[in-house]
This record gives sequence, structure tokens and C-alpha cells, in this order.
Amino acid sequence: MIIVRTVSDLRTALRERRDTPVGLVPTMGALHEGHLTLVRAARAENRTVVMSIFVNPTQFDEQADLAAYPRTEDRDAALAAEAGVDIVFAPDAAEMYPTGFATTVRIAGPVTETLEGAQRGRAHFDGVATIVTKLLLAALPDAAYFGAKDAQQVAVLQRLVADLDLPVRLVVCPTSRDADGLARSSRNARLTADERARALAIPRALQAVTDAAAAGLADVEALRARGLAELAGEGIDLEYLALVDPATFEPAAALDRPVLVAVAARVGRTRLIDNTVISAHAVGPGPLSQEGA
Ligand code: PAF
Repeated sequence: MIIVRTVSDLRTALRERRDTPVGLVPTMGALHEGHLTLVRAARAENRTVVMSIFVNPTQFDEQADLAAYPRTEDRDAALAAEAGVDIVFAPDAAEMYPTGFATTVRIAGPVTETLEGAQRGRAHFDGVATIVTKLLLAALPDAAYFGAKDAQQVAVLQRLVADLDLPVRLVVCPTSRDADGLARSSRNARLTADERARALAIPRALQAVTDAAAAGLADVEALRARGLAELAGEGIDLEYLALVDPATFEPAAALDRPVLVAVAARVGRTRLIDNTVISAHAVGPGPLSQEGA
């Protein structure tokens, strides 16, 4: 495995590999099993696997969150090598945002303005769309791999790729969960034992909505109420629990098509998100019954 730090070196390293498939796993480092799941999916489909590691400052709405974001490059590089990554692209901020940088990629509409966009400010998805566009153009991969936990990010990037006709296939891998059902996230490392126990109300809430839909409850507000009941009294600070269209993020009016149930909550100082997809006709197993949970 090699580590490159500039777009130019990345392109040079990829030049002789272009005639076989290249997969890109974009990350902000602090790797956990969820990232390694993405690498394994990329490894299975490509001759060359590139992982980018870049803590993208433009997508952080809180300076404190950016400062506290774990940076563990040596450990990340060792894990990436072990998982079969061929090239780590780890630029610094000056490489990605040189002096004079003045371009923003902005996707309009509810997909960027609601839920995460409303809580974190629309600059969050501007930052994500801009950096992912740059990473895709730097690596020109055949496929790029993202986790379903960031469902709104996935919807934004699908819109981006469709609107700009970017020649890349986006692969969405199922949310990776710890044995207790908590979705894996680099931020989980900040939870105390007590906070972690309280955070389990989040997958329980998603499971409650899934179970209610599987039992035939189809009213969107009643389904939401099932989730809220599970979260109440757990000492967590709910930002939203919403049932939305998974592609547009417009509010779901009925369970006549797949509906994304998305949650964001703060547990102590840590902000967590999670989601699941339900539909009246094909209800999935829910977060607490998924393989790997
Ligand atoms: O999901 C993430 O880790 C980041 O949002 C991404 C896609 C690497 C862009 O910085």
C-alpha cells in the first residue's frame, strides 16, 4: 500500500491501473469496522482500491466538532493496509482548498435543506458535495462506496452524480452495527459507558417503528409516535425523528412506497444519527435484527 498526499501523485499512481476497475472509499479517517466493510465491498469489485482520508473542514458546522474529530492516521493506514487498500490518498487542507479556492457545489431542495441540512446548516452538504466532487475528479473511480448510515449524504451524492452525469457508480453498503445494535460511528468513541447505554434507545426506536409497520400500522404520524415513545425519558436530546422519502427527503405522507425513518440525537456531547427503511409491503428486519448487529 502506498500513501500519496497530492492530487497529482494520486493521478500518477492510478495512471497505469486505469484499464482495470478502480474503487474509491472516501473517509475522514478514525476508521472503524463500518469503513472496513466499505473497503471489503470495494475490494470484491475492483482491481485497485483507493481510500481517501481527509477531515474536510468545510462540512463541519461547529469548530469544536472539527477540532475534536479524531485524527489517527498511523492507525488508519495500518487498518487500511490490512483490509486490502492499495492507495491511501491523505491530502492536507491546503492541497484540497488552496489559496484562492472559490468554488462550491450546491444541491438545492429538501434533500439538502431538511433534517441534517436544517440542523447543521446548508453549508454542511455544500461542503460534502464539494469535497466528494473533488475526490471523484481526483481519483476518477469506477465505483465509490458509502455507508447507509449517512442516508441523507447518500441521497445528496446520488443527486449530484445524476445531475452532473458523473461517470461513477455509487455503492451504498448497509449500516454496520455493534452487537448491541448501535450504528458504528467514529463519534461513538466519545461516549461514556452510561451515554452509550442511553444511546441504544436510538436503534430501539427504529426497531419499534419497523415492528409497528410490520404489524400493519400504516399511519405515518402513528409510526413516528412509536419511535418517539421509545426515545422518551432516556436522557437523550432528540433533534429529529422523521419519516421521509429516501431520495428527496420530502416528508412521507403514506406508507405506499419505501419510507426512510431518520433520527438524530445528542447523547451528552456526542451527536448521533441513524436510520432504517420501512414500507408496508416489504418491511426489512430493522436495525436490531440485521446481520452484524
Ligand atoms: O462520510 C464521510 O466520512 C464524509 O462525509 C465524506 C464522504 C468522506 C466527505 O468528507
